[in-house]
Amino acid sequence: MTDLYAVFGNPINHSKSPHIHRQFAEQTGQDMHYTKQLVNEGEFEKCVQEFFAQGGKGLNITVPFKLNAFDFAQKRTARAERAGAVNTLAKLSDGTILGDNTDGIGMIHDMHNLGWELEGKRVLILGAGGAVRGILQPLLEEKPAQVVIANRTQSKAEELAKNFHDLGDVQAKTFEQLHGEVFDLVINGTSASMQGELPPLPDTLLATNACCYDMMYGPEPTIFLRWAKERGAAQLADGLGMLIGQAAEAFYLWRQIRPEVVPVITAMRRQIAERK
Ligand code: ATR
Repeated sequence: MTDLYAVFGNPINHSKSPHIHRQFAEQTGQDMHYTKQLVNEGEFEKCVQEFFAQGGKGLNITVPFKLNAFDFAQKRTARAERAGAVNTLAKLSDGTILGDNTDGIGMIHDMHNLGWELEGKRVLILGAGGAVRGILQPLLEEKPAQVVIANRTQSKAEELAKNFHDLGDVQAKTFEQLHGEVFDLVINGTSASMQGELPPLPDTLLATNACCYDMMYGPEPTIFLRWAKERGAAQLADGLGMLIGQAAEAFYLWRQIRPEVVPVITAMRRQIAERK
């Protein structure tokens, strides 16, 4: 019997998840059907219960329900606990609903695919919202020399640094305190680029051979990646690989098979360019 999967969110029309999982299923010969479902506010629990009661095997959860999914899960992975949010639900063989968060590991795998080494590197993260919280544990497991979190609202950066302090050298700084500092990797986890804005960054922030990663992606390079290019960043990447990477980890959780992400990234990059 064909196994059922879906992505739940609001809005959901733009979701690329069905397209990505269809490619993974074809590639690995898995008999599965993946749909997208618009869920109204206040109806998340009801919709998830119905989905699993009707034989559904797994869900991806996107904005604005990742906290609801966290609460819904009967069991959670350690990385989901740390992230404080769940983007993947899986029905286990005993019927238990497991909650996982694959966003951070998806980003780390993308960086590995890009050939970026994280061990011993000085890392700066811009932003301190849910997206940043989701990547901190997998990032710190790569053993960077230091992680600095800079955010417009300083108290949020401080709270994150405090929460992840046991996993490595994590500090909070204001944008002003970045003057005179140099980093090997800068990750933009703010939503500022969606408004075409950029946090106030010093021009001298990037080390020689620095890599810059934007968790957002679009048909054109983001304002952050344009900033990084102009300041001589050696390597740039947007968040398309992270999107596909988190999907691959969810697929692995459900099917115990790891799909190839690079051909899917290449195909989607081509489609995005053609649609411009
Ligand atoms: P997400 O779940 O995508 O992380 P979020 O929790 O709303 O969304 O967090 C958005 C992040 O982008 C926050 O770090 C926010 O800074 P504040 O904590 O000060 O609000 C940051 N952000 C949004 N717009 C910004 C802007 N124009 N300049 C700088 N930072 C911005």
